[in-house]
Amino acid sequence: MSDNEILRMKGIIKDYVLGSGTSRVLKGIDLTVDRGEFLAILGPSGSGKSTLMNIIGCLDVPTEGEYYLSGKKIADQDEASLAQIRNKEVGFIFQQFQLLQRQTAFENVELPLIYANMPEKQRRERVREMLEKVQLGDKMEYFPNQLSGGQQQRVAIARALAANPTILLADEPTGALDQKTGAQIIELFHQLNEEGRTIIMITHDRHIAEHASRIVRILDGELSEGDLTDA
Ligand SMILES: Nc1ncnc2c1ncn2[C@@H]1O[C@H](COP(=O)(O)OP(=O)(O)OP(=O)(O)O)[C@@H](O)[C@H]1O
Ligand SMILES: [Mg+2]
Repeated sequence: MSDNEILRMKGIIKDYVLGSGTSRVLKGIDLTVDRGEFLAILGPSGSGKSTLMNIIGCLDVPTEGEYYLSGKKIADQDEASLAQIRNKEVGFIFQQFQLLQRQTAFENVELPLIYANMPEKQRRERVREMLEKVQLGDKMEYFPNQLSGGQQQRVAIARALAANPTILLADEPTGALDQKTGAQIIELFHQLNEEGRTIIMITHDRHIAEHASRIVRILDGELSEGDLTDA
């Protein structure tokens, strides 16, 4: 494993049991991601993107294959260490933002830091810093339903970044946004990547994918590298 490598998958298979049979959704995925990359995983609906994202983010385990994240072999971890790896290594961003509706922007961003046992004073500073980073310093006390879609997604990004994860993992981050607002989110990703953050973005939209510095395509549970000419 090279020094720069933060993620390596080899022969990842995911089967779902359906009634009497099984359905193979990931068919032997090999993928290596280096620190500082901005990777897009591009594929149509049903190709296995979210299934793959859940495995990358340690929300689910593969049926077969090897997965190393930050040098740790994921299959060897028990549920408690898996939860710890998830909290420390991965910041999740979802299409539908997944904010807690009854908590303010501030409280939403604060939550992962409470889980991480960060002391209160430091925590409050960190939340402020993150919300300012996504240009929401003036909306900290707003609830999600008082914010626009793009603003809600920026709160979600601040939350994902709060605990300083190794990877930012985004599943269709612009899928619920209009084009202009989506472009602002992509611009923010660019900025974060330039600051050194590793980003893995999952999308079905090649125009969105083209903003990444590397693209892999997923089709029917199989990955192929780059080149969009016949996408
Ligand atoms: N829990 C499950 N049980 C059985 N089959 C599943 C399960 N989750 C996903 N699948 C199947 O796996 C395939 C891939 O699903 P997945 O959600 O990964 O696709 P996707 O690429 O994220 O699609 P979309 O762009 O629509 O979100 C689909 O055919 C789906 O029916
Ligand atoms: Mg999906």
